[in-house]
Amino acid sequence: MDPHQYNLQAKFQQDGYLIMENFNSDEECDRLMQRAEELSRAFNYEGHPSVFQTTEQSKSTDDYFLNSGDNISFFFEKDAFDENGKLRYDIFRSLNKIGHALHDLDPVFGIFSRSDQMQKLAVELGLKEHLMIQSMYIMKHAKIGGVVDVHQDSSFLYTEPESCIGFWFALEDATIENGCLWAKPGGHQTSLRCRFRRKEGGGTEMLSLDEAPISTEDMQPLEVKKGTCIVLHGLLPHYSLPNTSGKSRQAYAIHTTHKDAVYPSDNWLKRERSEIRPIVTKV
Ligand code: FE2
Repeated sequence: MDPHQYNLQAKFQQDGYLIMENFNSDEECDRLMQRAEELSRAFNYEGHPSVFQTTEQSKSTDDYFLNSGDNISFFFEKDAFDENGKLRYDIFRSLNKIGHALHDLDPVFGIFSRSDQMQKLAVELGLKEHLMIQSMYIMKHAKIGGVVDVHQDSSFLYTEPESCIGFWFALEDATIENGCLWAKPGGHQTSLRCRFRRKEGGGTEMLSLDEAPISTEDMQPLEVKKGTCIVLHGLLPHYSLPNTSGKSRQAYAIHTTHKDAVYPSDNWLKRERSEIRPIVTKV
């Protein structure tokens, strides 16, 4: 192993995250943001489960989410609609995220997700056998982008043994004011606290695996420039605060799991095994 590769792997193992600056060019980031906006504006939200606040809403919102693993679905910010089912802002500004198979279904997202630098990084980190299982576009719009509570990604992409690795791409500068990620170096050296899964008979539940609370006390803001990629260990607790600034903080995230790890059938995200491709397809 060359020293650069060794250092990269050692740093990742030590901190539970890696900050790769200048990973994507401004043009690559801009193209992805433009595409996300195009997809949003072409999205017909009539009949979307978030439109009306009814007692049936939580079930249909659950179903919409649970069916989003193998397609491109749109998720609204809380309170995006008024009491008459009308959007308070334009469609793009009303969305919270898009997911969860952008990397496989949209050509622009496909190119970004399997860029040369992404494939090289995966090889350098020893992730040649990892599969790109899920992707999402995160808007975090100015003033309305909400909080993301502290969590471990492995709770949502649970495998046995634990194998989730995330790649988080800053498409714009991420700062404390606009809701950057927060994490603690070495924070991944802990147990998985809970698991999000499908409940028998429908719906979802958070199953506790370890009652010990996660402390956010020593977490640091990961302020990064546009074009930075942050690699995240699946056990690393992280969160982000609401965007209180006048600048959006758009980001794209890809999650991967090891091809040989057991992927339980009650995980929320379902995809045909044959459709899931590795990170590395070219190198
Ligand atoms: Fe996360």
